[in-house]
Order: sequence, then C-alpha cells, then structure tokens
Amino acid sequence: PLIGTTEMFKKAYEGKYAIGAFNINNMEIVQGVTEAAAELNSPIILQASAGARKYAKPAYLKHLLEAALEVHDLPVALHLDHGADFETCKDCIDDGFTSVMIDGSKHSFEDNIALTKKVVEYAHAHGVVVEGELGQLAGIEDDVKVAAHEASYTRPEEVEEFVGRTGVDSLAIAIGTSHGAYKFTPAQCTRNKQGVLVPPTLRFDILEEVSKRLPMFPIVLHGASSVVPEYVKIINANGGKLADAIGIPEDQLRKAASMSVCKINIDSDLRLGLTAGVRQHLFAHPDHFDPRQYLTDGRQCVHDIVAHKIEYVLGSAGKA
Ligand code: G3H
Ligand code: 13P
Ligand code: ZN
Ligand code: NA
Repeated sequence: PLIGTTEMFKKAYEGKYAIGAFNINNMEIVQGVTEAAAELNSPIILQASAGARKYAKPAYLKHLLEAALEVHDLPVALHLDHGADFETCKDCIDDGFTSVMIDGSKHSFEDNIALTKKVVEYAHAHGVVVEGELGQLAGIEDDVKVAAHEASYTRPEEVEEFVGRTGVDSLAIAIGTSHGAYKFTPAQCTRNKQGVLVPPTLRFDILEEVSKRLPMFPIVLHGASSVVPEYVKIINANGGKLADAIGIPEDQLRKAASMSVCKINIDSDLRLGLTAGVRQHLFAHPDHFDPRQYLTDGRQCVHDIVAHKIEYVLGSAGKA
C-alpha cells in the first residue's frame, strides 16, 4: 500500500537500518526498483523531483506507482524530492503524495524556518509528513575549496531549534555527501595500497552530535550514491566517457544506516545503472533498435543495483 514514512522510520531507527529513497523518472526505473524491493520484501520510498515531474508529467509518475502497487504488495511512500517552494509542496500534497521535502537550505536560518513551518502546517493538516534540510550539500559545480568548507556542514547547535520551531518529521543534514556522480575530485582523495581512490570520510562526528540533540529523530542523507565503479567501467567500456566519477563508499553508508540515518537518497546510481545496461546492449548489438531490447537490460541493472543496496547497504531486506 501507499503509506507515509512515520512507521517506516520508527522501525528503521530501532532496527538500525535505513529506507532507500529512489528517484523515479520513467517506467523502467519504477519497475526495476519495485521489483527488487518486492523480491527482498523491503519497504521503499519512491521520490520525484521537480525535474522528474516536468519530464514524465505528474500523472504518469503517480499512475506508474499505482501500477507498481497493483503488481507488488509493498509498503511504499511517494515523496517529493527537493521541493523548492510552498506551491510545489502543496501541489504534491493535493496530488496524493504521502511525504514532501521542503528544501529551504539555501535560505537564511530564519527564512528556512518560516518556509518549512508553512509547509508543515499544510502537510500535517492533510496527513502528509515533511522532510526539512539544514546545511548545504556541496554541488557538483562547487570547487574543492567550497566543498571542503566547514560552513557548508550542518551546525548541530541549530537542529533542535529548527525541528522544534518547524515541526518537521525528518531532517536532511550535510555531513560531506553531495549530489551527482562527481562527489569528490581525485585531489580530495587518497590512494589505498591497491591504488584505489578513497574519498574523505563523512563527518560522523556531526551526525552523532545531531542525534544526541534529537533523540530518536530520523535523519536523511542526500547525495548518497556510491557511484559503483563496476557500472562506471561498463559505461566507459561501451562508448561512454565518465572520468573520475567518485561516490560514497558503501561501508560508510552502512554505518550511517546503523545510526540515526533512516532515509538514504539514491538517484545517480540508478542513472548509471540504466545507462550501463543500455550502452552495453547497444554496443554488443549495433543492429538492435527495439527499445524493449535495450531497456530490458537497463531495467535489469537498475534492479540489480537496488537489490544490492537493500541487502548490503540499507539493511532493509525482510522489513516490509
Ligand atoms: O537531488 C537531486 C536528484 O538527483 C534529482 O535530480 O533534479 O535532475 O531530477 P533532478
Ligand atoms: P545522488 O546524486 O548521490 O544519487 O543523490 C540523490 C539525492 O540526494 C536525491 O535527492
Ligand atoms: Zn537530494
Ligand atoms: Na538507521
């Protein structure tokens, strides 16, 4: 059934795991994600960004989810990813979303609180939960200096006031993750004995400080794709050109999931998976032009990535 995240997060917090929040943009992604979740009996969150709603049109996304729920009996939340303003959040709440994010992180502390509070009031009156954000994730366009700047991390001393005054149900924080497939430059990484680039460790000290101040409160990690080297390799071996794509190591996500992090956002890994499957297929079969052939392989990669996440990173298998 289509549900909210309250119960999901409570169980995840107590059970020391996290729920995967997967970005959906088309039918193959919805199918790949929900099939993996159904096989592993895992709760999931499907999230749509403003860009996804523009690309697919809101009705398609909503009905794709409804179709998935007709095929699979699964606990699924439908969430707005990075709502930028009150109107977008209201639109999704009126459209049947069970959860929305209001991303006021680029505003001042006071403006973020005012905007978030307004969304919470409307959402709660309609039985919908709200995710807020404090602190700024480094953008893919940011240079090393900005990405590493202390000011972009969430300030733990602000979280109680933010949650208390807004009434949000969960909080996204910045502890060193960032959006996209290029989370770190090679210069920010060190090389291990095998010569593999190892990115700087997430700021677990900030996460711990936040959790101390917000006992039992669900924390959200954005920008949490691992940019699995195996898929980057497939893309590059089949005509792609992704140089120095680097993500968050799985062991760090597993650790975060065992702590107060209850929602882990994954989009880039799905994009890479779909692209890897399609590229590999078309490269191997230059004569194919039936989308059902190459999208079958793309969808399979999405499925495999999600299944791996659920089992080995999120720890949500069998929790539906
Ligand atoms: O946080 C960003 C998500 O990956 C969604 O990206 O806005 O391109 O759909 P998008
Ligand atoms: P990635 O780009 O790391 O997949 O992050 C996705 C995200 O945070 C969506 O809100
Ligand atoms: Zn995000
Ligand atoms: Na957790």
